[in-house]
Amino acid sequence: MWGRSRLLGLPLPRGAPAIWRKGVSLCLFNGCSSDSRLRVVEALSEAAVGEREVQVQGWVRAIRAQKEITFLNINDGSSLQSLQIVAHPNLDIRGITFGSAVEIWGKLVQSPHKKQSTELLADKIRLVGACNPVDLPFKIKERHSLEYIRQFPHLRCKTNIFSSLLRIRSEASAAYHSFFKPASKTAEEQKNANFFDVPSFLTVSGQLHLEVMMGAFTQVYTFGPTFRAENSQTRRHLAEFYMVEAELAFTESLKDIMEVMENLFKTATSCILSKCPDDIELFHKYVAPGQKGRVEQMLKNSFQVLSYTEAIDILQRSMETFTFEPKWGCDLQTEHENYLVEHCGNIPVFVVDYPYDIKPFYARDNQDGPQHTVAAVDLLVPRIGELCGGSLREERLDLLQSRLKQYGLKDTYKWYEELRQFGSVPHGGFGLGFERYLQCILGVENIKDVIPFPRFSHSCLL
Ligand code: 4AD
Ligand code: MG
Repeated sequence: MWGRSRLLGLPLPRGAPAIWRKGVSLCLFNGCSSDSRLRVVEALSEAAVGEREVQVQGWVRAIRAQKEITFLNINDGSSLQSLQIVAHPNLDIRGITFGSAVEIWGKLVQSPHKKQSTELLADKIRLVGACNPVDLPFKIKERHSLEYIRQFPHLRCKTNIFSSLLRIRSEASAAYHSFFKPASKTAEEQKNANFFDVPSFLTVSGQLHLEVMMGAFTQVYTFGPTFRAENSQTRRHLAEFYMVEAELAFTESLKDIMEVMENLFKTATSCILSKCPDDIELFHKYVAPGQKGRVEQMLKNSFQVLSYTEAIDILQRSMETFTFEPKWGCDLQTEHENYLVEHCGNIPVFVVDYPYDIKPFYARDNQDGPQHTVAAVDLLVPRIGELCGGSLREERLDLLQSRLKQYGLKDTYKWYEELRQFGSVPHGGFGLGFERYLQCILGVENIKDVIPFPRFSHSCLL
């Protein structure tokens, strides 16, 4: 039974904490190979060539029978490239098909073929798990679209494109962690009413809890699943997505926050470009031609900055016909965000100082006029729109209290108010949507294609 939050509108099983059924934060790890058992990526390295007997395990990605010899391509998810296995006729390969799980023992030799550095001369092949290629929804040698493979969330990790995505996702996740390290993590708010004896919900953001930790650790971050009862079925919204959030103490300017956002974006991107070049190339070649250049543009230029008021002015002066008329005091729509990014030369752009009335209670009052704003910032990126949202937080108790009252939350956040009574400091932070980040770098149109198990309104296939 799938436990979903009250926030998402579905009941949890009695007493079961929602954390049992939260999303799969998939990361790949290396290091389970031994002297003789090699992962494919290790077997592809010329350093592994030698007389010793080695073992490789994986799934058959291609099979070619020639007169005498049969060639198998084996993949275990450790690299985009598969390892070629050379099987002489004395070996029993009955039942081995596209998709089967196999285990092979043999010697690694240098390959005579240009495309690969090594190949494995098999001494023994064992069929571990058979696969009927007729029933398998993916066909050998066929390139399936992202939309097509999305119908098979339990199988799509077996395709080249989705396994590339998962390797990139895993590296990007490690890059985000290493950017922030050392830092402390927070527990999140994602429990069940019966379990805790009080009503409780899945978290829509770790921010308020990060603010607690910031009060003793100065710089903190969290990276985890986040839940929103979004009813919109768009190509950039999920009901469950991953968010990287950071909070910084002793910060009086949005510039400090923006600097961290820009550095984070650029450092993580440079890191994945160098760690998974082949996987990224696959996307840039087949999914989003032209994306490589767009990513380079984003990396080499300084991100732009516009005030919300300037942004509205640009939109109002443009010749574009928008579905939603741009008006001071209204939120920016995706069409507006995309226009602004193009206007800035397809470089990511920070929009700062939003109207007081459209931002949450915690955003810091700029106490300006006549157009009253708060120190909030959104980072907009090409083809996606909003990637990050952040703000300075209202650290002044009186202003925070009047804001909470205005929102009808007078007694709801007593503990949050108390943070302003015991050594309050100017501070701020932001959240970055991890899936939107992957879309932005890889050029993937639909957010459902960059997460292992997409959950969105009216759909929780797995
Ligand atoms: O702008 P948001 O709502 O900001 C916050 O939640 C702040 N409390 C974060 C903070 O300051 N610590 O969300 C941050 C980012 C968005 O910019 C967007 O990239 C992503 O999270 N996001 C979503 N991604 C996928 N599906 C959704 N339904 C999303 N909602 C927000
Ligand atoms: Mg936002």
